[in-house]
Amino acid sequence: MSAALKQAKQTLDRKGFLDLEIDPTLDLVKEIQKLKKEKKAIILAHYYQESEIQDLADYIGDSLGLSQKAAATDAEMIVFAGVHFMAETAKMLSPHKKVVLPDLKAGCSLADSCPAPLFKKFKERYPDHVVVSYINCTAELKTLTDICCTSSNAVAIIESIPKDKGIIFAPDKNLGAYLIKKTGRDMVLWNGACMVHEIFSQEKITKLMERHPSAKFIAHPECEAHILEQADFIGSTSQLLKFTRENSAAEFIVATESGILHQMQLASPQKTFIPAPPNNTCACNDCPHMKRNTLEKLYLSMKYELPEIVLEERVIREGRACIDKMLEISEKAGFKA
Ligand code: 13P
Ligand code: SF4
Repeated sequence: MSAALKQAKQTLDRKGFLDLEIDPTLDLVKEIQKLKKEKKAIILAHYYQESEIQDLADYIGDSLGLSQKAAATDAEMIVFAGVHFMAETAKMLSPHKKVVLPDLKAGCSLADSCPAPLFKKFKERYPDHVVVSYINCTAELKTLTDICCTSSNAVAIIESIPKDKGIIFAPDKNLGAYLIKKTGRDMVLWNGACMVHEIFSQEKITKLMERHPSAKFIAHPECEAHILEQADFIGSTSQLLKFTRENSAAEFIVATESGILHQMQLASPQKTFIPAPPNNTCACNDCPHMKRNTLEKLYLSMKYELPEIVLEERVIREGRACIDKMLEISEKAGFKA
């Protein structure tokens, strides 16, 4: 092992990724494709990844589609171009496979907003309630959850619970509030939110809609209620993409992370997609966690099969049941990746 690799491995936990120099003349796209074959690897990418990573992926999808693919793959190594909770979910679903994440520090503000020890105490106050957790949570939180959900299947999951049962919904208060409105169910909400979906500016969106009167305004349910109220359509990333493909409008104002615009534009090159403006000055809708993954880190993670997702056996055993339950309900309801 070279001295540089040895040092990079030693600093992996602190930095979150293998900090190694790459030969600048290397064609990374070709190298990654080569490694994919050599290592019988599958690259699963979320829609919020950089477009160059999406273009290399074997499957691009939303959280539900990615979990379904991770559960069904016969690849020997899963390379997860997404964030930590997604790679953990893949590991729980395929515990005997190697799962690598290009940057271990690709976290999620929603997952971080709900530490398992605090949630455990919160849950004790409602002993008869069913716990539904948005998949954007840690593996440890999943051990305290009865059924998982994603933004694609959340309504179907809530509706599968008997009407006389109380529900705790964690960690996203915005998705939770949306589900209360949509299903009419009374739910106890954990007070978490996504840092990307919380910063859209209602005032700037209204002005944009005035300037583009025929544009459809579409939003992810992680957005706040006052933003969702303005929306012509609300859905998960894959549902938003489908809407833009099927709807006859020529322009769309899109309130979610900007990575999704790549697939929207590829699917409908003749249409215009305008990212909804946030209320900050940099005017960017990027998720800093998703965007930690780069082509360089992807290449290194495949070459050295590091950083690897490692979970305690207990966490896999206790955390997996809520994901299996979600996949079972989703299959019955006809959700397919
Ligand atoms: P979906 O792609 O499942 O809609 O999730 C959005 C998201 O925020 C993922 O982190
Ligand atoms: Fe988490 Fe929000 Fe980033 Fe998705 S967009 S990974 S919910 S911080």
